[in-house]
Amino acid sequence: MMGKEKRLPLIIDSSDQLPSATILKRFPLPRNFGVAPDSRIEEGQVWKAPAGASRTKAFTIYRYDPDSGDNPTLDIFEVDLDDCGPMVLDALIWIKNKVDPTLTFRRSCREGVCGSCAMNIDGTNWLACTREIAETDEAGRIYPLSNMRIVKDLVPDLTHVFAQYAAMEPWLHSKTPAPENERLQSPEERSELDGYYECILCFCCTSGCPSHWWNGDRFLGPAALLQAYRWLADTRDEATGQRLDDLEDPFRLYRCHTILNCTRTCPKGGTPARRSPRSRK
Ligand code: SF4
Ligand code: SF4
Ligand code: FES
Repeated sequence: MMGKEKRLPLIIDSSDQLPSATILKRFPLPRNFGVAPDSRIEEGQVWKAPAGASRTKAFTIYRYDPDSGDNPTLDIFEVDLDDCGPMVLDALIWIKNKVDPTLTFRRSCREGVCGSCAMNIDGTNWLACTREIAETDEAGRIYPLSNMRIVKDLVPDLTHVFAQYAAMEPWLHSKTPAPENERLQSPEERSELDGYYECILCFCCTSGCPSHWWNGDRFLGPAALLQAYRWLADTRDEATGQRLDDLEDPFRLYRCHTILNCTRTCPKGGTPARRSPRSRK
C-alpha cells in the first residue's frame, strides 16, 4: 500500500525537513527563460552505457568550457550501476574515469567534510558525496551551484564568497594576554557554538539565497553571516563591538528576509538564518 504523501512544509525549522518536491519542480520555468543568447543551454551529447550493462541510470549534466566559445550544453551519461559506487559523486568519478575525462568537478574528502563537491542536484544544492544515486530523479539533473560564475562544467568560481567569508575575520580576536595553556570555556559556553562550528564552507546556502542573487555584491549571504555569528557567540572573542559595527549596514546584514532557503539546503544540518547576527538577542 502506498504511504501517505508527506506534505512540503511552508515554514521549515531545520534542514532535516527536506522537501520531497522543490518549488522549482512545482512551478517549472522553461529552460533558457530570459537568458542571454550566449548563455542559452543547448542539447549536448548522449553517452550510452557500455554494451552488456544491465542496470543503468542516466544523468543529465551541465557542461561548459569557456575556452571552446560554445554555449553550455546538457550531456546525458548512462552509468553502469553495477560498476559504480552508490553516491552521485561515485557516478561523476565513474563518468570521468570511463567515459569522458574532460568532465570537470571538485571533490576531495568523499565524506561530506571538505565542502568541495557542492552542486545542484535535481534542483537542490547538496554535496555529491552524500546524495545517494537511488535518491535522484529519473533525469538525474546535475548543475553547478547557481548564481556563481562558472569556471568549467560543475566548478563554480568561489572567489567572491570566500572574500566575503574572509571579511568576517574568522579567527579569535583577543587583547587579553594568552594564558599558559588553553583559553577555557565551560561546557555551556562551548555548546553555544553547536550548529555552526560544523560549517564546511560548501556555500550551498549562499548559492540558494535569493537575497544574495539580487544583492550579492553588498549582502554578505548566509555562509558569511553564520561565521560572523560563530565569533560573536564565542566567549573567548573580545571584538564583539567591532564585529557588530562592521555588520551595521543596510545591505551587509539586513538584506536577509528570513525565508530560510539557506537552512533548507544546508547539507550539514546547519541553520544559517537562525544563527546569523540578525537572530542575536
Ligand atoms: S533566510 Fe536570509 S540568508 Fe537565508 S536564504 Fe533567506 S534571505 Fe538568504
Ligand atoms: S552553513 Fe551549511 S550550507 Fe552554508 S556553507 Fe556552511 S555547511 Fe555549507
Ligand atoms: S568530497 Fe568533500 S564534501 Fe564531498
